[in-house]
Amino acid sequence: TQAPVKVAVTGAAGQIGYSLLFRIASGELLGPDQPIELRLLEITPALKALEGVVMELDDCAFPLLSKVEIGDDATKVFDGVNLAMLVGARPRTAGMERGDLLSANGAIFTAQGKALNAVAADDIKVLVTGNPANTNALIAQSNAPDIPAERFNALTRLDHNRAISQVANKLGVPVTEVKKLTIWGNHSATQYPDLFNAEVNGKNAAAAVNDEAWIENDFIPTVAKRGAAIIAARGSSSAASAANATIEHMHDWALGTPEGDWVSMAVPSDGSYGVPEGVISSFPCTVSAEGVYSIVQGLSINDFSRAKIDASVAELVDEKKAVTELGLI
Ligand code: NAI
Repeated sequence: TQAPVKVAVTGAAGQIGYSLLFRIASGELLGPDQPIELRLLEITPALKALEGVVMELDDCAFPLLSKVEIGDDATKVFDGVNLAMLVGARPRTAGMERGDLLSANGAIFTAQGKALNAVAADDIKVLVTGNPANTNALIAQSNAPDIPAERFNALTRLDHNRAISQVANKLGVPVTEVKKLTIWGNHSATQYPDLFNAEVNGKNAAAAVNDEAWIENDFIPTVAKRGAAIIAARGSSSAASAANATIEHMHDWALGTPEGDWVSMAVPSDGSYGVPEGVISSFPCTVSAEGVYSIVQGLSINDFSRAKIDASVAELVDEKKAVTELGLI
Protein backbone atom coordinates (compact mmCIF):
# COMPACT_ATOMS: atom_id res chain seq x y z
CA THR A 1 0.00 0.00 0.00
CA GLN A 2 0.99 3.61 -0.52
CA ALA A 3 2.39 5.83 2.23
CA PRO A 4 -0.31 7.94 3.89
CA VAL A 5 -0.81 11.50 2.70
CA LYS A 6 -0.75 13.87 5.66
CA VAL A 7 -3.79 16.14 5.57
CA ALA A 8 -4.07 19.07 7.99
CA VAL A 9 -7.44 20.58 8.86
CA THR A 10 -7.74 23.67 11.05
CA GLY A 11 -10.92 24.55 12.93
CA ALA A 12 -11.48 20.80 12.98
CA ALA A 13 -14.00 20.92 15.84
CA GLY A 14 -16.19 23.43 14.00
CA GLN A 15 -19.28 22.77 11.92
CA ILE A 16 -17.50 22.49 8.56
CA GLY A 17 -14.95 20.19 10.18
CA TYR A 18 -17.70 17.87 11.36
CA SER A 19 -18.69 17.18 7.77
CA LEU A 20 -15.23 17.45 6.21
CA LEU A 21 -13.22 15.01 8.32
CA PHE A 22 -15.46 12.01 7.76
CA ARG A 23 -15.47 12.48 4.00
CA ILE A 24 -11.69 12.88 3.86
CA ALA A 25 -11.24 9.76 5.94
CA SER A 26 -13.70 7.75 3.85
CA GLY A 27 -11.64 8.33 0.69
CA GLU A 28 -13.54 11.11 -1.04
CA LEU A 29 -10.54 13.43 -1.09
CA LEU A 30 -7.87 11.26 -2.71
CA GLY A 31 -9.70 8.12 -3.78
CA PRO A 32 -10.25 4.62 -2.43
CA ASP A 33 -6.59 3.49 -2.52
CA GLN A 34 -4.86 6.36 -0.75
CA PRO A 35 -4.34 6.09 3.03
CA ILE A 36 -4.70 9.35 4.96
CA GLU A 37 -3.15 10.66 8.15
CA LEU A 38 -5.21 13.47 9.67
CA ARG A 39 -3.56 16.36 11.51
CA LEU A 40 -6.17 18.44 13.28
CA LEU A 41 -5.53 21.90 14.66
CA GLU A 42 -7.81 23.69 17.09
CA ILE A 43 -7.59 26.40 19.71
CA THR A 44 -7.03 25.09 23.23
CA PRO A 45 -10.64 25.48 24.50
CA ALA A 46 -11.95 23.40 21.57
CA LEU A 47 -9.56 20.45 22.02
CA LYS A 48 -12.00 18.60 24.27
CA ALA A 49 -14.75 18.79 21.66
CA LEU A 50 -12.22 17.73 19.04
CA GLU A 51 -11.40 14.65 21.11
CA GLY A 52 -15.06 13.71 20.81
CA VAL A 53 -14.91 14.06 17.03
CA VAL A 54 -11.83 11.84 16.97
CA MET A 55 -13.73 9.24 19.01
CA GLU A 56 -16.36 9.25 16.26
CA LEU A 57 -13.68 8.93 13.58
CA ASP A 58 -12.38 5.90 15.48
CA ASP A 59 -15.89 4.51 15.60
CA CYS A 60 -16.16 4.59 11.82
CA ALA A 61 -13.15 2.24 11.52
CA PHE A 62 -12.31 3.83 8.18
CA PRO A 63 -9.90 1.47 6.38
CA LEU A 64 -7.97 4.38 4.82
CA LEU A 65 -7.46 6.36 8.02
CA SER A 66 -4.00 5.38 9.24
CA LYS A 67 -3.61 7.91 12.04
CA VAL A 68 -5.16 11.02 13.65
CA GLU A 69 -3.15 13.59 15.56
CA ILE A 70 -4.68 16.63 17.23
CA GLY A 71 -3.23 19.70 18.89
CA ASP A 72 -3.19 23.45 19.41
CA ASP A 73 0.39 24.03 18.25
CA ALA A 74 0.59 24.66 14.49
CA THR A 75 4.30 23.83 14.26
CA LYS A 76 3.60 20.35 15.63
CA VAL A 77 0.34 19.70 13.79
CA PHE A 78 1.66 20.91 10.41
CA ASP A 79 4.91 18.93 10.63
CA GLY A 80 5.40 17.17 7.30
CA VAL A 81 1.87 17.84 5.99
CA ASN A 82 1.21 17.51 2.26
CA LEU A 83 -2.22 19.14 2.10
CA ALA A 84 -3.56 21.82 4.43
CA MET A 85 -7.18 22.93 4.62
CA LEU A 86 -7.35 26.13 6.65
CA VAL A 87 -10.96 26.24 7.75
CA GLY A 88 -10.75 27.73 11.25
CA ALA A 89 -11.13 31.49 11.36
CA ARG A 90 -12.48 34.21 13.57
CA PRO A 91 -16.08 35.02 12.62
CA ARG A 92 -17.36 38.57 12.65
CA THR A 93 -19.30 39.17 15.86
CA ALA A 94 -21.63 41.99 16.77
CA GLY A 95 -19.90 45.36 16.98
CA MET A 96 -16.78 44.16 15.21
CA GLU A 97 -15.42 46.55 12.57
CA ARG A 98 -13.84 45.27 9.39
CA GLY A 99 -10.39 46.27 10.66
CA ASP A 100 -10.97 44.21 13.84
CA LEU A 101 -11.99 41.22 11.73
CA LEU A 102 -8.92 41.53 9.51
CA SER A 103 -6.64 41.89 12.54
CA ALA A 104 -8.13 38.90 14.37
CA ASN A 105 -7.79 36.73 11.29
CA GLY A 106 -4.43 38.23 10.50
CA ALA A 107 -3.08 36.91 13.78
CA ILE A 108 -4.31 33.40 12.90
CA PHE A 109 -3.08 33.33 9.30
CA THR A 110 0.33 34.97 9.91
CA ALA A 111 1.06 32.31 12.55
CA GLN A 112 -0.21 29.45 10.38
CA GLY A 113 1.70 30.72 7.32
CA LYS A 114 4.91 30.83 9.36
CA ALA A 115 4.33 27.36 10.77
CA LEU A 116 3.67 25.89 7.31
CA ASN A 117 6.78 27.62 6.01
CA ALA A 118 8.85 26.03 8.76
CA VAL A 119 7.55 22.46 8.88
CA ALA A 120 5.25 21.48 5.96
CA ALA A 121 6.35 18.95 3.31
CA ASP A 122 7.96 20.26 0.12
CA ASP A 123 4.88 19.43 -1.94
CA ILE A 124 2.50 21.32 0.40
CA LYS A 125 -0.73 22.69 -1.06
CA VAL A 126 -2.74 25.10 1.10
CA LEU A 127 -6.44 25.84 0.64
CA VAL A 128 -8.08 28.56 2.74
CA THR A 129 -11.81 28.23 3.44
CA GLY A 130 -12.00 30.44 6.55
CA ASN A 131 -13.24 33.95 5.79
CA PRO A 132 -12.27 36.43 4.51
CA ALA A 133 -10.79 33.54 2.53
CA ASN A 134 -8.91 35.33 -0.28
CA THR A 135 -7.20 37.79 2.03
CA ASN A 136 -6.51 35.18 4.71
CA ALA A 137 -4.80 33.11 1.99
CA LEU A 138 -2.76 36.15 0.98
CA ILE A 139 -1.67 36.68 4.59
CA ALA A 140 -0.61 33.03 4.97
CA GLN A 141 1.21 33.13 1.63
CA SER A 142 3.05 36.34 2.52
CA ASN A 143 4.22 34.78 5.75
CA ALA A 144 5.56 31.65 4.03
CA PRO A 145 8.32 32.97 1.77
CA ASP A 146 9.92 29.56 1.17
CA ILE A 147 6.71 27.99 -0.19
CA PRO A 148 5.95 28.83 -3.85
CA ALA A 149 3.18 31.44 -3.90
CA GLU A 150 0.96 29.38 -6.20
CA ARG A 151 0.57 26.75 -3.47
CA PHE A 152 -1.84 29.08 -1.65
CA ASN A 153 -5.44 29.01 -2.88
CA ALA A 154 -8.75 30.22 -1.47
CA LEU A 155 -12.14 28.58 -1.83
CA THR A 156 -14.69 29.80 -4.39
CA ARG A 157 -15.83 26.31 -5.34
CA LEU A 158 -18.94 26.64 -3.19
CA ASP A 159 -19.94 29.74 -5.18
CA HIS A 160 -19.14 27.82 -8.37
CA ASN A 161 -21.39 24.94 -7.34
CA ARG A 162 -24.16 27.30 -6.26
CA ALA A 163 -24.05 29.00 -9.67
CA ILE A 164 -24.18 25.67 -11.53
CA SER A 165 -27.17 24.60 -9.49
CA GLN A 166 -29.05 27.89 -10.06
CA VAL A 167 -28.60 27.87 -13.84
CA ALA A 168 -29.40 24.15 -14.14
CA ASN A 169 -32.58 24.77 -12.18
CA LYS A 170 -33.53 27.77 -14.33
CA LEU A 171 -33.13 25.76 -17.54
CA GLY A 172 -34.51 22.51 -16.17
CA VAL A 173 -31.38 20.53 -17.02
CA PRO A 174 -29.23 18.24 -14.86
CA VAL A 175 -26.25 19.96 -13.19
CA THR A 176 -23.97 17.70 -15.24
CA GLU A 177 -24.99 19.59 -18.39
CA VAL A 178 -23.53 22.85 -17.06
CA LYS A 179 -19.82 23.30 -17.85
CA LYS A 180 -17.19 26.04 -17.88
CA LEU A 181 -18.82 28.12 -15.18
CA THR A 182 -16.51 30.73 -13.70
CA ILE A 183 -16.57 32.66 -10.45
CA TRP A 184 -14.34 35.72 -10.79
CA GLY A 185 -12.90 37.85 -7.99
CA ASN A 186 -13.47 37.72 -4.25
CA HIS A 187 -15.42 35.17 -2.20
CA SER A 188 -17.79 37.91 -1.05
CA ALA A 189 -20.96 39.63 -2.19
CA THR A 190 -18.98 41.28 -5.04
CA GLN A 191 -18.05 37.95 -6.66
CA TYR A 192 -19.03 37.58 -10.31
CA PRO A 193 -20.53 34.30 -11.54
CA ASP A 194 -20.02 34.36 -15.34
CA LEU A 195 -22.58 32.73 -17.63
CA PHE A 196 -21.19 34.35 -20.79
CA ASN A 197 -18.34 31.85 -21.00
CA ALA A 198 -20.31 28.93 -19.53
CA GLU A 199 -21.96 26.16 -21.53
CA VAL A 200 -25.19 24.24 -21.13
CA ASN A 201 -25.45 21.14 -23.28
CA GLY A 202 -22.47 22.46 -25.24
CA LYS A 203 -24.20 25.77 -26.06
CA ASN A 204 -23.50 29.19 -24.59
CA ALA A 205 -25.23 29.41 -21.19
CA ALA A 206 -26.13 33.12 -21.35
CA ALA A 207 -27.70 32.56 -24.78
CA ALA A 208 -29.55 29.51 -23.48
CA VAL A 209 -30.96 31.54 -20.57
CA ASN A 210 -31.74 34.41 -22.98
CA ASP A 211 -32.82 36.70 -20.15
CA GLU A 212 -30.27 39.34 -19.19
CA ALA A 213 -32.56 40.77 -16.52
CA TRP A 214 -32.66 37.36 -14.83
CA ILE A 215 -28.86 37.10 -14.99
CA GLU A 216 -28.35 40.54 -13.51
CA ASN A 217 -31.20 40.81 -11.01
CA ASP A 218 -31.78 37.23 -9.99
CA PHE A 219 -28.94 34.83 -10.80
CA ILE A 220 -25.97 36.96 -9.72
CA PRO A 221 -27.45 38.20 -6.41
CA THR A 222 -28.87 34.76 -5.57
CA VAL A 223 -25.42 33.18 -5.93
CA ALA A 224 -23.62 36.03 -4.18
CA LYS A 225 -26.07 36.16 -1.25
CA ARG A 226 -26.67 32.43 -0.89
CA GLY A 227 -24.58 32.23 2.27
CA ALA A 228 -26.82 34.80 3.98
CA ALA A 229 -29.97 33.01 2.74
CA ILE A 230 -28.74 29.79 4.33
CA ILE A 231 -28.03 31.51 7.63
CA ALA A 232 -31.54 33.01 7.55
CA ALA A 233 -33.14 29.60 6.89
CA ARG A 234 -30.96 27.25 8.91
CA GLY A 235 -29.88 29.49 11.74
CA SER A 236 -26.22 28.74 11.07
CA SER A 237 -23.94 29.14 8.12
CA SER A 238 -23.49 26.64 5.32
CA ALA A 239 -21.38 23.77 6.53
CA ALA A 240 -21.95 20.52 4.62
CA SER A 241 -21.89 22.34 1.28
CA ALA A 242 -18.77 24.27 2.31
CA ALA A 243 -17.08 21.01 3.33
CA ASN A 244 -18.13 19.47 0.01
CA ALA A 245 -16.62 22.36 -1.93
CA THR A 246 -13.41 22.25 0.13
CA ILE A 247 -13.03 18.55 -0.71
CA GLU A 248 -13.80 19.10 -4.39
CA HIS A 249 -11.28 21.94 -4.73
CA MET A 250 -8.50 19.97 -3.06
CA HIS A 251 -9.43 16.75 -4.91
CA ASP A 252 -9.22 18.48 -8.27
CA TRP A 253 -6.06 20.37 -7.37
CA ALA A 254 -4.36 17.11 -6.36
CA LEU A 255 -5.69 14.83 -9.10
CA GLY A 256 -6.67 17.07 -12.03
CA THR A 257 -9.80 18.44 -13.67
CA PRO A 258 -11.80 16.57 -16.33
CA GLU A 259 -11.26 17.15 -20.04
CA GLY A 260 -13.59 19.75 -21.55
CA ASP A 261 -14.37 21.61 -18.34
CA TRP A 262 -12.77 23.87 -15.78
CA VAL A 263 -13.35 24.86 -12.15
CA SER A 264 -13.22 28.11 -10.20
CA MET A 265 -10.22 28.49 -7.91
CA ALA A 266 -9.00 31.61 -6.13
CA VAL A 267 -5.28 31.66 -6.94
CA PRO A 268 -2.48 34.25 -6.81
CA SER A 269 -3.00 36.43 -9.88
CA ASP A 270 -0.34 36.35 -12.58
CA GLY A 271 -1.91 39.40 -14.22
CA SER A 272 -4.33 37.38 -16.38
CA TYR A 273 -7.50 39.21 -17.44
CA GLY A 274 -6.15 42.47 -16.04
CA VAL A 275 -6.29 41.25 -12.43
CA PRO A 276 -3.23 42.78 -10.75
CA GLU A 277 -0.51 40.51 -9.43
CA GLY A 278 -0.39 40.34 -5.65
CA VAL A 279 -4.01 39.46 -4.93
CA ILE A 280 -5.59 36.00 -4.67
CA SER A 281 -8.56 36.15 -6.99
CA SER A 282 -10.94 33.57 -8.43
CA PHE A 283 -10.30 32.45 -12.02
CA PRO A 284 -11.31 29.64 -14.34
CA CYS A 285 -8.64 26.98 -13.84
CA THR A 286 -7.72 23.57 -15.20
CA VAL A 287 -5.43 21.20 -13.31
CA SER A 288 -3.09 18.61 -14.86
CA ALA A 289 -3.00 15.01 -13.65
CA GLU A 290 0.25 15.95 -11.86
CA GLY A 291 -1.61 18.53 -9.78
CA VAL A 292 -0.42 21.72 -11.47
CA TYR A 293 -3.10 24.28 -12.21
CA SER A 294 -3.25 26.91 -14.91
CA ILE A 295 -5.58 29.83 -15.44
CA VAL A 296 -7.68 29.30 -18.59
CA GLN A 297 -6.54 31.88 -21.14
CA GLY A 298 -8.19 33.64 -24.03
CA LEU A 299 -11.78 33.95 -22.79
CA SER A 300 -13.65 36.96 -24.10
CA ILE A 301 -14.85 39.34 -21.43
CA ASN A 302 -17.76 41.57 -22.42
CA ASP A 303 -18.32 45.03 -20.94
CA PHE A 304 -20.84 43.75 -18.39
CA SER A 305 -18.41 41.10 -17.14
CA ARG A 306 -15.48 43.53 -17.19
CA ALA A 307 -17.23 45.94 -14.85
CA LYS A 308 -18.25 43.15 -12.45
CA ILE A 309 -14.77 41.60 -12.38
CA ASP A 310 -13.15 45.01 -11.88
CA ALA A 311 -15.44 45.79 -8.94
CA SER A 312 -14.67 42.53 -7.15
CA VAL A 313 -10.94 42.83 -7.82
CA ALA A 314 -11.01 46.42 -6.51
CA GLU A 315 -12.37 45.01 -3.25
CA LEU A 316 -9.48 42.54 -3.07
CA VAL A 317 -6.97 45.33 -3.70
CA ASP A 318 -8.64 47.31 -0.94
CA GLU A 319 -8.48 44.37 1.52
CA LYS A 320 -4.81 43.94 0.62
CA LYS A 321 -4.16 47.60 1.35
CA ALA A 322 -5.90 47.26 4.73
CA VAL A 323 -3.85 44.23 5.81
CA THR A 324 -0.66 45.87 4.53
CA GLU A 325 -1.42 48.91 6.71
CA LEU A 326 -2.03 46.57 9.65
CA GLY A 327 1.45 45.10 9.06
CA LEU A 328 0.07 41.60 8.39
CA ILE A 329 1.78 41.14 5.03
P1 NAI B 1 -17.20 27.26 13.27
O1 NAI B 1 -17.19 28.49 14.09
O2 NAI B 1 -18.23 26.21 13.49
O3 NAI B 1 -15.79 26.54 13.40
C1 NAI B 1 -14.58 27.24 13.31
C2 NAI B 1 -13.59 26.51 14.20
O4 NAI B 1 -12.31 27.15 14.02
C3 NAI B 1 -13.93 26.59 15.68
O5 NAI B 1 -13.98 25.27 16.21
C4 NAI B 1 -12.76 27.38 16.27
O6 NAI B 1 -12.41 26.93 17.57
C5 NAI B 1 -11.67 27.10 15.26
N1 NAI B 1 -10.57 28.06 15.27
C6 NAI B 1 -10.62 29.39 15.53
N2 NAI B 1 -9.39 29.91 15.51
C7 NAI B 1 -8.54 28.89 15.23
C8 NAI B 1 -7.13 28.80 15.13
N3 NAI B 1 -6.35 29.86 15.28
N4 NAI B 1 -6.60 27.59 14.84
C9 NAI B 1 -7.37 26.51 14.70
N5 NAI B 1 -8.71 26.53 14.82
C10 NAI B 1 -9.28 27.71 15.08
O7 NAI B 1 -17.19 27.77 11.75
P2 NAI B 1 -17.52 26.96 10.43
O8 NAI B 1 -18.96 27.06 10.16
O9 NAI B 1 -16.87 25.63 10.49
O10 NAI B 1 -16.79 27.90 9.36
C11 NAI B 1 -15.38 28.04 9.36
C12 NAI B 1 -14.99 29.20 8.43
O11 NAI B 1 -15.34 28.91 7.08
C13 NAI B 1 -15.66 30.53 8.76
O12 NAI B 1 -14.67 31.55 8.63
C14 NAI B 1 -16.69 30.68 7.68
O13 NAI B 1 -16.97 32.03 7.42
C15 NAI B 1 -15.96 30.06 6.52
N6 NAI B 1 -16.80 29.64 5.40
C16 NAI B 1 -16.27 29.79 4.14
C17 NAI B 1 -16.97 29.42 3.02
C18 NAI B 1 -16.39 29.59 1.67
O14 NAI B 1 -17.08 29.29 0.68
N7 NAI B 1 -15.15 30.05 1.49
C19 NAI B 1 -18.32 28.84 3.16
C20 NAI B 1 -18.77 28.66 4.51
C21 NAI B 1 -18.01 29.06 5.59
